[in-house]
Amino acid sequence: MVKSLKEEIEKRRTFAIISHPDAGKTTLTEKFLLYGGAINLAGSVKGKATARHAVSDWMEIEKERGISVTSSALQFNYDGYCVNILDTPGHQDFSEDTYRTLMAADSAVMVIDGSKGVEAQTRKLFKVCAMRHIPIFTFINKMDRDARDSFDLIDEVEKELGIATCPINWPIGSGKNFKGVYQRDNKKVAFFFDTEKGTKEGQEKDIELTSAEIDQYLDEDEKETLLGELELLDGAAAEYDLDRVRAGELSPVFFGSALTNFGVEIFLKHFLNMTTPPTPRHSDLGVVDPFSEDFSAFVFKIQANMNKAHRDRIAFMRICSGKYEAGMEVNHIQGNKKIKLAQPQQLMASERKIIENAYSGDIIGVFDPGIFSIGDTITTSKDKFKFDGIPTFAPEHFAKVHQLDTMKRKQFVKGVSQIAKEGAIQIFQEYNMGMEEIIVGVVGVLQFEVLKYRLENEYKVEIRMENLPYEYIRKVKNPDIDINKINGTSDMKRISDLDGNPMLLFVNSWSIGMTLDRNEGLELEEFGINQ
Ligand code: G4P
Repeated sequence: MVKSLKEEIEKRRTFAIISHPDAGKTTLTEKFLLYGGAINLAGSVKGKATARHAVSDWMEIEKERGISVTSSALQFNYDGYCVNILDTPGHQDFSEDTYRTLMAADSAVMVIDGSKGVEAQTRKLFKVCAMRHIPIFTFINKMDRDARDSFDLIDEVEKELGIATCPINWPIGSGKNFKGVYQRDNKKVAFFFDTEKGTKEGQEKDIELTSAEIDQYLDEDEKETLLGELELLDGAAAEYDLDRVRAGELSPVFFGSALTNFGVEIFLKHFLNMTTPPTPRHSDLGVVDPFSEDFSAFVFKIQANMNKAHRDRIAFMRICSGKYEAGMEVNHIQGNKKIKLAQPQQLMASERKIIENAYSGDIIGVFDPGIFSIGDTITTSKDKFKFDGIPTFAPEHFAKVHQLDTMKRKQFVKGVSQIAKEGAIQIFQEYNMGMEEIIVGVVGVLQFEVLKYRLENEYKVEIRMENLPYEYIRKVKNPDIDINKINGTSDMKRISDLDGNPMLLFVNSWSIGMTLDRNEGLELEEFGINQ
């Protein structure tokens, strides 16, 4: 039976999983895939170093460092839903890419290590979710290890992240004494029985808290503690309110252990029920309805070298309305051209496959001959709208890049321009000079290494990088100012972007204030959402 467009879109759930490194994001993703039947044995997404690279990793640097540099999307079916998980690297140096990925998600799952609580990276990622008001679901993981007090943990989430929480279930013990979770909606305790360290789906037994059978599983002390905690919880926790959850004001909290499958399926079921189908997106011509017949999408990520043998580049797009059909012609708004989408691909669990159809909410990867930039809109609509831009980040580290072999000028310019288009670096030049020497700005210092590696390997260009001490960048807003006449501090540097717009670099915020004091009428503008 052919499903209608509406039915297909309604069953889609597109979300990102965010966490501080090591909290258990990969393990949880893997368990979701296990329950969705997308993989047979947990361990194929991540099973220590080697298998971990199968899905999303692509570059030598990642292998050497054992971290995931890029994000990818995985799709699987579960319980009548079509689930798209956006994988976000947790490493702080790649936060920019992570932020962009969050733009493509409709909700986020925040994984927290129960023994650690809210960590630095969670805080940062959370800020972006909060900014977009996307619903956030909290999974407190590793309850099979000695965890911190559960009340302390939810208190910390509320205080640190400034969001109300509503525990949907409540853990019984932690570490060796972790028995299961009490489900507040049906008043049953779910006990879990681990099978082969979580490599197979765990078994679950649900028992009414008031039944006599419960005594076989909980001793008097455990029962008393649980009852006391539940009483406290009923009095103190915010009430469950789906509208507030969907408005990003209330985070439902779940406890469990991804490694041993405790509470994973309960979480998945509730979460898919609570989270929304694809949400409407904003454009310069108004809101775009996800159920509209017209296909539309925006590019949120460009990834080079997905396949080493082909040196290909893939533009990842989030479909925001309608249906993609193989070979369809679309308007590329920023390029002002009609284009044919060539062989879009999707990642299904651990393989890439060419797709015939995709719907609003889905992520597709399209071969990019170098025409796309981050944030670009494509659509079949006659209206030439652009989706709201993806926020850029102010670079916080700068380096001067010297090209060693001047004969390779063309490749050098091509290389840096392309890498900048992908959003990995931002390029500037000395004020009033050409691209003789360029200044590269990055958000995370590891991007310098990525740049060097890629220029050498893909473009065969050797470079030398000279780190610059600046940490702050400001746009000069005054339209007709002679930037050479600005009376700045001795540590100020004059640069421009590639369109010739004047900018200033500063070592510290004190110098910015000093420069503003010395130049009456000078207007400096911050850019990027991280400043
Ligand atoms: P990440 O993607 O958020 O960085 O975390 P990842 O899933 O890779 O998990 C980090 C480590 O924590 C892994 O151990 C993983 O097995 C472990 N872990 C994840 N969930 C749980 C849990 O619920 N309970 C316990 N006890 N551990 C958990 P590792 O030693 O780094 O790797 P491995 O040898 O297990 O593969």
